[in-house]
Amino acid sequence: MPYLADLGVDALWITPFYPSPMADHGYDVADPRDVEPVFGDLAGFDALLADAHARGIKVTVDLVPNHSSHQREWFTDALASPAGSPARARYVFRDGRGADGSEPPNNWPSVFGGPAWTRVPDGQWYLHLFAPEQPDLDFTNPEVVEDLEETLRFWLDRGVDGFRIDVAHGMAKPTGLPDMVPMEDTGLLADHGPGDHRFDQDEVHLVHRRVRAVLDRYPGTMAVGEVWVADDARLAEYLRPDELHLAFNFKLLTAAWGRDELRTAIDHSLATVASTPAPACWVLSNHDRPRHVTRYGGGELGTRRARAAVLLQLALPGAAYVYNGDELGLPDVDLPDEVLQDPIWARSGHTERGRDGCRVPMPWGGHSPPYGFSTSSDTWLPMPAGWAALTVEAQTRDHRSMLSLYRRALAIRRSSPFCAGDHLQWLPAPTGCLAFRRPGGLVCLVNLSGAPVPVPAGDVLLASEPVVERYLPDDAAVWLHP
Ligand code: GLC
Repeated sequence: MPYLADLGVDALWITPFYPSPMADHGYDVADPRDVEPVFGDLAGFDALLADAHARGIKVTVDLVPNHSSHQREWFTDALASPAGSPARARYVFRDGRGADGSEPPNNWPSVFGGPAWTRVPDGQWYLHLFAPEQPDLDFTNPEVVEDLEETLRFWLDRGVDGFRIDVAHGMAKPTGLPDMVPMEDTGLLADHGPGDHRFDQDEVHLVHRRVRAVLDRYPGTMAVGEVWVADDARLAEYLRPDELHLAFNFKLLTAAWGRDELRTAIDHSLATVASTPAPACWVLSNHDRPRHVTRYGGGELGTRRARAAVLLQLALPGAAYVYNGDELGLPDVDLPDEVLQDPIWARSGHTERGRDGCRVPMPWGGHSPPYGFSTSSDTWLPMPAGWAALTVEAQTRDHRSMLSLYRRALAIRRSSPFCAGDHLQWLPAPTGCLAFRRPGGLVCLVNLSGAPVPVPAGDVLLASEPVVERYLPDDAAVWLHP
């Protein structure tokens, strides 16, 4: 907690810590209103919350409405109950197709590979957009929505400041569950747009309104949605005044390191929120995607670009999410087959390695694994050799480190009047560069041109690489003030 306060974060988002068989990193929740014993207990959670609040840090927790664990009592009851029973009506059970019902009810694939349906011994099938251990709940059932509201109140009454809503574009399935237009898979959690009936159905907004109505009774709280919807206008619908407060905009998370790609991502993100009360919400990495150091080329090049990227991210108007380890410049780790945990690995027939590479624990100090993360060398994913220079301890001592850059950038962003204002103005910039000004006066210049460029007028507030004789090197960014 002191580390997070020093880093300068305003709020935490904690990924699921609820009792779970961990078929999907805790996103298979067996009891949404308790703490997984591996992590602690409710008293420990309350203590964490109190500690965070005492330091002025807000706490948001992950809400996983779309599905439960197959070990949630609701689902074991459903399996023990006959077809057509109220216990089954909390989930999406259907008869199969074909003369003997041995074909799945429709052609939907699971996001993790394979069909989205699993057959149970009495012949019915149940829907799981993710792993079979994550049966989808039926949100047309009032009991399911009421239970979600109870979960919200449970955590709000304990004092949490808000929620990150998992698969916030799921939850509603079209009547009759029609076949979807078969489409080429474009990767995990990709947004397929129209014709993919699994996601972004109009009825999902009813659920968001119910969530918002609960939050509105707890002033100062908020919900941020994981909404994989590419279309600006469709995405904006989730941000109407009676729905989500924020939606992650994943365009920056998925954009390649290039001037036009970044500019397009930023323009679309700003256009999405322009007609809504929401600020934009920027993400460079998360627990579902390769870390951006790796995405941008890895090694020294990836790190250099990541340094520039954070100055870009933190200069933008709106909210910014930092994934743990971004601030250390952690790369993805190449893990051996036998330690992989992500269900994608098995479900893809061992063709896709999944997301474990970005989920390796944080290195705190020392020279060898587990770098102070644990008293056991047997961490849940193994930590690699060679991270001694990336530890918090090593980077704290080095004023040129990624951690020092994050700390300075976050401090300026939080306190400087130059960062004020909720929009930006693009400025003319040398070919291959991005430049914009914030209403408070901050100018951010990012050089993606392949060669050094002259730095415009203004004092240098912060730079990702040394500015020499007023030239900004390639793959670098600078903050200036008037
Ligand atoms: C979200 C989470 C991801 C999880 C999936 C299913 O996309 O971010 O980690 O696997 O939902 O719950």
